[in-house]
Amino acid sequence: MIESQQTSVRTPRLCCPEPSPTWAATDLYTLSHLNSSTAHNSAILKSTLDNSADQGLPDIYSSRAFAKFLALQAKAIDAKHFLEVGTLGGFASIWLASENPNLKVTTLEYNPHHAEVAKENIAHAGLSDRITVHVGPALETLPTVLSDIDTGKLPKLDMVYVDADKQNNWNYVNAAISGCRKGAVIIVDNVVQGGQIASGDDLSDKPEYVTGARKVIENVGKDERVTATVIQTVGEGSHDGFLFAVVR
Ligand SMILES: C[S@@+](CC[C@H](N)C(=O)[O-])C[C@H]1O[C@@H](n2cnc3c(N)ncnc32)[C@H](O)[C@@H]1O
Repeated sequence: MIESQQTSVRTPRLCCPEPSPTWAATDLYTLSHLNSSTAHNSAILKSTLDNSADQGLPDIYSSRAFAKFLALQAKAIDAKHFLEVGTLGGFASIWLASENPNLKVTTLEYNPHHAEVAKENIAHAGLSDRITVHVGPALETLPTVLSDIDTGKLPKLDMVYVDADKQNNWNYVNAAISGCRKGAVIIVDNVVQGGQIASGDDLSDKPEYVTGARKVIENVGKDERVTATVIQTVGEGSHDGFLFAVVR
């Protein structure tokens, strides 16, 4: 019996090979020991996923192992302000805030229904005072957040997580760097896409999630403000990976 937050098997992603049963089983085994049903936040994470599914949200939330990795990374750098681009139902935001009692999360969501469900889940988790959802295209809401950081209304960003429309990956990273403190961590999800990013230089027939992944990797590589690497991952979310950058 799986003891964790997820109640159903995730829908395979179009981009990537079907997750191998071994990868998914390994995630389930490790999570059952490292975030079991008795974990302090297990019940709220489960109700977040259940309510999101009941309200018709797609099951494209960050994998549980990855959401917990984000929360632990925030703890490791004693993050006080975390920015997420792409809220969905608030799963990663709720994991971050529930694991880090001193953390404020600012999260940006384009889809009004997703944002509504996220706000409901956040309220149910008792975290409305520490997680703020901005509704609208992130390219429009991010400048407001950055201006509030500039004027001191919000603290500088300690961590940024980009997980929305992939063609704008670089635009979000490029803009967010200006709101980051030195040493801040920036993570961009889904930049490996089953290895499609390495399938040649002719991008004419490539989908936006591949060109968006390549653009952020290539531009970050040329940008003196950050230093970065990409880590490939497998698991319940198939073969993908994330870009991990640190602001100099
Ligand atoms: C993969 S989901 C995010 C999952 C979430 N980070 C989590 O861990 O549960 C991507 C989300 O980004 C949102 N999104 C897509 N384009 C966007 C945009 N231009 N601005 C803000 N959000 C956007 C989608 O509506 C969707 O809810």
